[in-house]
Amino acid sequence: MNKYSSVRFHQLSSERYHLKTFARVQDREGKHKILGLFKAPASWSSMSDFEIRAKDGMARIGLLPTKHGRLRTPLLMPVVHPGKSAVSPKALIETYGFQMIITNSYIIKSHEKFRSKAQSEGVHSLLDVDVPVMTDSGTFQMYFHGLPEDEIDPLEIVRFQKEIGSDIGTILDVFSDPKVGKSKVEEDVRVSIERARISVGSKDDMLLAGTVQGGIYPDLRRESARKMAELDFDIHPVGGAVPLMEAYRYADVVRATLAAKEFLPVERPVHLFGCGHPMFFALATLLGCDLFDSASYAKFAETGRLLLTTGTVHLQDLTELPCNCPVCSRTTAEEMKNLKKNEQELALLKHNLYISAAEMRRVRQAIYDGRLLELASIRARGHPSLYDALQVFLSHYNQIEEYHPVGNSSSVFYTGPETADHPDFVRFTQRILDRYPYTKSSNLFLVPHHGDRPFAETTSKIVQLVRSSKAESSLLVFAAPLGVVPWELEHVFPAQHCIFPRKLDIATINASKERTVSFIKTLSYNDAYWVTRDTPTDSLLDDVLDEFGIARLGDAAEGLAIMEEANTGEHWPQRKLGALMAYQWGLEVGSLSDIKGLSVKVSKSTGKIRHVTKGEDILFTIIPTTGMLAPTMSGGLYLLEKNLGRDYQVTLENEAAEFVAKGKSALAKFVIEASPLLRAGEEVIVVNEDREPVGVGRASLNGNEMISFNRGVAVNTRHSRL
Ligand code: GUN
Ligand code: ZN
Repeated sequence: MNKYSSVRFHQLSSERYHLKTFARVQDREGKHKILGLFKAPASWSSMSDFEIRAKDGMARIGLLPTKHGRLRTPLLMPVVHPGKSAVSPKALIETYGFQMIITNSYIIKSHEKFRSKAQSEGVHSLLDVDVPVMTDSGTFQMYFHGLPEDEIDPLEIVRFQKEIGSDIGTILDVFSDPKVGKSKVEEDVRVSIERARISVGSKDDMLLAGTVQGGIYPDLRRESARKMAELDFDIHPVGGAVPLMEAYRYADVVRATLAAKEFLPVERPVHLFGCGHPMFFALATLLGCDLFDSASYAKFAETGRLLLTTGTVHLQDLTELPCNCPVCSRTTAEEMKNLKKNEQELALLKHNLYISAAEMRRVRQAIYDGRLLELASIRARGHPSLYDALQVFLSHYNQIEEYHPVGNSSSVFYTGPETADHPDFVRFTQRILDRYPYTKSSNLFLVPHHGDRPFAETTSKIVQLVRSSKAESSLLVFAAPLGVVPWELEHVFPAQHCIFPRKLDIATINASKERTVSFIKTLSYNDAYWVTRDTPTDSLLDDVLDEFGIARLGDAAEGLAIMEEANTGEHWPQRKLGALMAYQWGLEVGSLSDIKGLSVKVSKSTGKIRHVTKGEDILFTIIPTTGMLAPTMSGGLYLLEKNLGRDYQVTLENEAAEFVAKGKSALAKFVIEASPLLRAGEEVIVVNEDREPVGVGRASLNGNEMISFNRGVAVNTRHSRL
């Protein structure tokens, strides 16, 4: 392990970066900061084979290998009773399209006929399926039926699950009733961890799930997650959520799950135990839950209820069946109501299965499309409690931001007031506050904008004039529904990649106002002008004009006259390039002399940068979907010359770096250093152990994920050295 010897490594087993090593440096002010995350020597942590294929919000499309094949997550497992399932396990797979099922090892173990068959032929044979099977431990039965403490032996039940060949087994955690006080929940967490410790050594080649408990208390969820994370588990369920979900306490589930996620290793899938209602799948997935199980499909059918993505309905209340599943298409509400009790229950149960399976497919597609937040927002209309939960989720911006990819190929669609808190808009605003380079100017022009694209087209005269003035003489900023957009960055995601209605709600207006105000505060200027235009955002500054000494111009013509005076014939494409390089990489190349020698080609019609060259060499092209710069290999070298920060460099083992040099992707397995501040979606440079650049490309994981995962791609190489 000689490559680890040159840096001082620390093991962070008790903090956020579970079992990662990191290098700590002191900056000039003597403050400690984490410089990078490093792959821990193999002996320090267990290997996970989980792999990320796509990301959105905190959600991920994952691949999870098991003894019975590879699973694509997020996924839903129907709960089956080993002896009596209304739809056979085989049909669940073949007719309904589920990838795996979950059953209960306690029920198998406590019935002789199930037990002996499972012991002699295995649980797959007992259920007559050849797909992955997860088993639960009896925790829920203990809670639900109030069984005595010694009814199930924690170690024995894990060994039993191993014996019957379960693909994923579960420890006997202690389920905390939401009605008990905090001290009892604390005790339940303690006992669960004790049982986890004695169980984990018996898993052998079975994947084992270590459930996080802690009730509605985020501190106990964190504590439980931190301790479970230290043990050699493969999957972490969030437990104790069933009674919360039954009582529509979705906001509590969101808080509990996010608290647990803070301390769970990113490379282990998270299962939300007992989450079977399709109206919650989108939001739960957005929190980063990968596995779900449903007994709800049967439970709701038993009581005459249909699961819908918009909520629950009683068959008795329906005159129409609001569903296009095969069951509902073949019959009418009237006919279904007139069925015999058991036939009706079966029809409802089948409907519930179809609906649940379809929603999970829709959720996966939404992740690929980068539109899961929109789906969750639409689903949140199903019940005000879901909307509460969505708002709680969005209030955890810092946690979301760590995982949410930068840039997206699809536009953000307005869904309602919650869109104001869309992480893409918050991130855009923060980056502009932190990185916009032209902060000193004589004249500041603020132009209200309804957000139609491209901005420059609907304000072409103003933009043309400001283009030909120096940044020191004229700044032009649009006040749009998503927030503030300096004209130089109007083509960057999501400035032009969001669609709002003409009439805006008050939350959107207020967010836009706040963002505009906080941006103005970062600027220094002599005179500021608000160019009155007929847009919904024109009313934004009514109550702040005075505070900032902003003069309201009667119309654009007045602004044009002022700008005309400042016209100095500056080369505006370079000003745009400087803004982009600052925005994307935090580089201090704001002044044009910093980037002289570069030639910037722009589209005459749209003003978008096409590419950037230096002599014969192309340094940057523009990614059409996001308006961001993609460096070529020469561009990467140029960025390094300009002191590109370590946050945008990914270090690979030398041997693997040779493959990247030839154009292959950089695999997570070989990443030895990445910054905790690196986000998926960024354009990065791949370097070898000697810090020599070998390729450039788009990160598909964040820094922590690159270090933590053993499978999958970390950087999609665009250009390489050779
Ligand atoms: N099924 C539903 N909730 C739970 C839980 O908290 N733990 C276990 N083991 N199974 C569950
Ligand atoms: Zn239906």
